[in-house]
Amino acid sequence: MSQGTHVVIGATGATGRVIVRELSARGVPVRAVSRRAIRDVPVNVTSVAADALDPASVKRAVHGAAVVYHCAMPTFENWRSDFPRMTRAIVEAAGGNDARVVFADDTWMYGKVTGPISERTPENPVSNKGVLRAWLGEMLLTAHHRGDAHVVIGRAPELFGPHVGSLLNAGFIGAAARGRRAVYIGNPDLPITPMFIDDFARGLITLATAQDASGRAWMIPTPPPTTARSLVQLAADRHGRRVHISRISSRTGRALGLVWPLAREGAEMIYQFEQPFTIDASDFTSRFGANPTPYEKSVRATADWYRSNGSR
Ligand SMILES: NC(=O)c1ccc[n+]([C@@H]2O[C@H](COP(=O)([O-])OP(=O)(O)OC[C@H]3O[C@@H](n4cnc5c(N)ncnc54)[C@H](OP(=O)(O)O)[C@@H]3O)[C@@H](O)[C@H]2O)c1
Repeated sequence: MSQGTHVVIGATGATGRVIVRELSARGVPVRAVSRRAIRDVPVNVTSVAADALDPASVKRAVHGAAVVYHCAMPTFENWRSDFPRMTRAIVEAAGGNDARVVFADDTWMYGKVTGPISERTPENPVSNKGVLRAWLGEMLLTAHHRGDAHVVIGRAPELFGPHVGSLLNAGFIGAAARGRRAVYIGNPDLPITPMFIDDFARGLITLATAQDASGRAWMIPTPPPTTARSLVQLAADRHGRRVHISRISSRTGRALGLVWPLAREGAEMIYQFEQPFTIDASDFTSRFGANPTPYEKSVRATADWYRSNGSR
């Protein structure tokens, strides 16, 4: 584990809060950064309020850091204006401290693929948000190769787990867990390898602490492929019920996007649910090993969380 303080930017988010919890459990000093200070923090953790869009405030927040996890994410409609700004501010502040930036990334830069997505898959974005992610990745790795800051990128497909905002989470696994209609856009019988939020956080911590990991993007390992239908059944299984999936066709999803701004942001990503979408993390696995949580365990943990957290 790198000596010194690990700073988590976006510490109130789904990914950031698990990284904070994991590092605290490992005895690492952590600074949890979000726009508003957090009241109840675990041991070894201090909370700092900072706006990632304000370079001076980011600079103060990362002072003396060994590692800076970039888990901050603007709302979808502000991605284009805010993501590059906050990423630049984080890289600049981390570089000033000789700290390593670990970027929590997605897989949208790969676009429509015909096989598993690996670190060797060419980036070929087919959505505005995919183009932006490709550009952010390039900006981060260029900063690394120019010597501005040490950077490593960890990539994840669709996430699920407590607090996660994704198509698979509240309206699907969470709904099934609470005996409601599980809603899915696209085909629920295609092979997919979604990632449990705890596995994403642990993968990013692994990248943060391996000196030779920097300067590239790594795919973080998932269990072998499953389907959305199998996942939702696991979420409801404790009650032995069969879950009915309400399917929103891709065509309806796209039509909604014409009239509803939030659906518009999602509509351009629907292609992901019309094709098999699986990850091949063999680079990561051969370098660091892999022990992703089996879906039986992670989906049931997520379902339990939804049952005890009502409609969150
Ligand atoms: N969700 C998925 O399925 C998924 C899949 C793969 C990759 N990813 C990527 O993983 C990263 C983290 O995603 P997530 O789902 O964990 O995000 P999230 O739950 O939406 O959390 C976003 C975090 O960003 C913080 N934030 C937003 N604007 C900020 C600002 N101006 N200054 C400081 N903090 C700010 C929020 O804090 P406050 O609002 O409390 O200040 C919050 O802590 C993102 O880049 C995302 O694209 C997500």
